[in-house]
Amino acid sequence: MSSQLAVQLTLFVFTLSAGASPAADGWPAIMSLDRSKQSRPRGEETAAVKNVTAVRVFNTSVTAREVRAVQVKYANAANFLAGIGINTDAHPEKGYPEFHPPSTFARSQDGVQGTFNATDAGARASGASEPGIVVAPVNNAPGTARMPLTDFMSGMLDVLYYGPMSFGSKQALMQIDVDTGSADLWVPMHCRGCRNPGYNERGSTSFNGTTEGCTITYGTGKVSGTLAYDTVAVGTAMVPQQAFCAVTEVSNDLDAEPNSGLLGLAFGSIAQASNSSNTFFENLLEQKALAASVFSVHLTRGVEKGSEVCFGCYDPTKARGPITWNRVVSRTYWSIPMNGTAVNGTQSPANLIAAIDTGTSLVYLPNAAADDFYAMIPGSAAASVQYGAGFYTFPCDTSLTVALILSGQSYAIHPDDFNLGRLDEESDQCVGGILALGSGFPNDLAIVGDEFLKSWYSVFDYAGRVGFAPSTNNQNQ
Ligand SMILES: *[C@@H]1O[C@H](CO)[C@@H](O)[C@H](O)[C@H]1NC(C)=O
Ligand SMILES: *[C@@H]1O[C@H](CO)[C@@H](O)[C@H](O)[C@H]1NC(C)=O
Ligand SMILES: *[C@@H]1O[C@H](CO)[C@@H](O)[C@H](O)[C@H]1NC(C)=O
Ligand SMILES: *[C@@H]1O[C@H](CO)[C@@H](O)[C@H](O)[C@H]1NC(C)=O
Ligand SMILES: *[C@@H]1O[C@H](CO)[C@@H](O)[C@H](O)[C@H]1NC(C)=O
Ligand SMILES: *[C@@H]1O[C@H](CO)[C@@H](O)[C@H](O)[C@H]1NC(C)=O
Ligand SMILES: *[C@@H]1O[C@H](CO)[C@@H](O)[C@H](O)[C@H]1NC(C)=O
Repeated sequence: MSSQLAVQLTLFVFTLSAGASPAADGWPAIMSLDRSKQSRPRGEETAAVKNVTAVRVFNTSVTAREVRAVQVKYANAANFLAGIGINTDAHPEKGYPEFHPPSTFARSQDGVQGTFNATDAGARASGASEPGIVVAPVNNAPGTARMPLTDFMSGMLDVLYYGPMSFGSKQALMQIDVDTGSADLWVPMHCRGCRNPGYNERGSTSFNGTTEGCTITYGTGKVSGTLAYDTVAVGTAMVPQQAFCAVTEVSNDLDAEPNSGLLGLAFGSIAQASNSSNTFFENLLEQKALAASVFSVHLTRGVEKGSEVCFGCYDPTKARGPITWNRVVSRTYWSIPMNGTAVNGTQSPANLIAAIDTGTSLVYLPNAAADDFYAMIPGSAAASVQYGAGFYTFPCDTSLTVALILSGQSYAIHPDDFNLGRLDEESDQCVGGILALGSGFPNDLAIVGDEFLKSWYSVFDYAGRVGFAPSTNNQNQ
């Protein structure tokens, strides 16, 4: 599968280079909402897929599971975003200074905020000795810890990202999915029906079990067990008595995935298992174990190795331009203002709150906003239900620059991530990576997952903001 994917990516890049005008200067781009400055992202590339044999075919079995997962994961979103049913925020914003990255990238010459010259930045990112960039020693710096992630791919889609965390005094390594869209930590323990390895606490002198039950719902998935405490660590970043749900039952959907457990990295206010415990990240902050109150996420595109979470740090080698910040609207999800979508620089306005979610693969919008988005693409239509509710198709040969408008700024989604593939091998219709969330959700909730984050290296700042810098994924391979 991976060689197939490599062929596809290579051909895609070939198509882009062949089609690029001499003025095109890279991808992706961010632009100001102010139309007087510039109406389109610079250096845009297009989603035209000219080679029929080079495109992936849409796989319903992978996406249908994701849609079910999102629907239940966000079932409480309306309440959470309204401040109902959330735990007390024991860590108010004021306690944490805003993060300023150790390096600066030159802003573009033309004054459009954050406009990104990939040619230029690419040259500098690959040559760290160039003036104007300081590469911080994040590998060994005190107060930082890197969690390398594996990209689990299925049906040629990047499905989820997981990496090792150690549990107990004997430092048993468990493979854990990182999820900025939830706030609980759980791992299987003495779980009879579980396919993936569980944590064996025997021999851990720091283990402290309780009889208090915990249940966490994700998708059609649900895990339940008892609350426990033990030493939990990523590299040298260690929490001595971290609360987690020691899970004895995992439903089928979750067990089909390669990770054993899940690490919630949203604000502890929305934790389900315990309403008096900090998340792992909050405990690291409370212990003053981190050099900065941030974690940063790099997600690869179609490449198994190379993704990571950097706790307490920002890795300038993963970014190819400056960070643009978005203030959170509430300390629940990493929720930021979203002002609509854009196709080729034409905008469709909407007043939304976007939850930035590494634990979701695709991008979901309220029905009306999804309809408005596809109305900007001639020939698009809601997909027939056999492909799953919420999906839309568009003509595969349409060239598109798709962007989300966050805090008034436009951020492009790489066309290779937006195009989920042809309906079938012969079809000239492709499935779009922006879906309608369906009924029963707040009419202002957007869920922005990995599809977007593969284009943007993201920095989650506990001062209450999320920053995006153009990802190193976007340099021409
Ligand atoms: C399409 O891709 C295949 C490989 O997947 C290649 O052999 C073929 O030459 C390509 N066709 C065109 C017109 O580029
Ligand atoms: C982008 O950067 C390259 C290399 O520094 C430069 O040659 C090119 O003119 C720049 N493009 C624009 C549009 O600024
Ligand atoms: C679709 O994905 C499923 C689950 O990963 C896989 O078993 C199946 O082979 C895929 N189908 C195609 C046509 O790629
Ligand atoms: C186990 O955890 C509970 C809840 O945090 C705590 O009250 C208790 O003191 C802990 N016991 C040990 C031996 O650490
Ligand atoms: C949270 O804790 C309080 C007491 O500390 C308790 O009354 C409440 O029921 C708990 N809520 C949940 C959802 O567990
Ligand atoms: C987007 O721009 C491309 C390149 O200029 C053009 O070919 C395409 O038709 C446009 N697509 C839409 C939907 O406007
Ligand atoms: C974007 O949306 C937010 C909240 O929905 C709103 O406060 C803000 O004014 C909007 N910004 C622009 C530029 O429309």
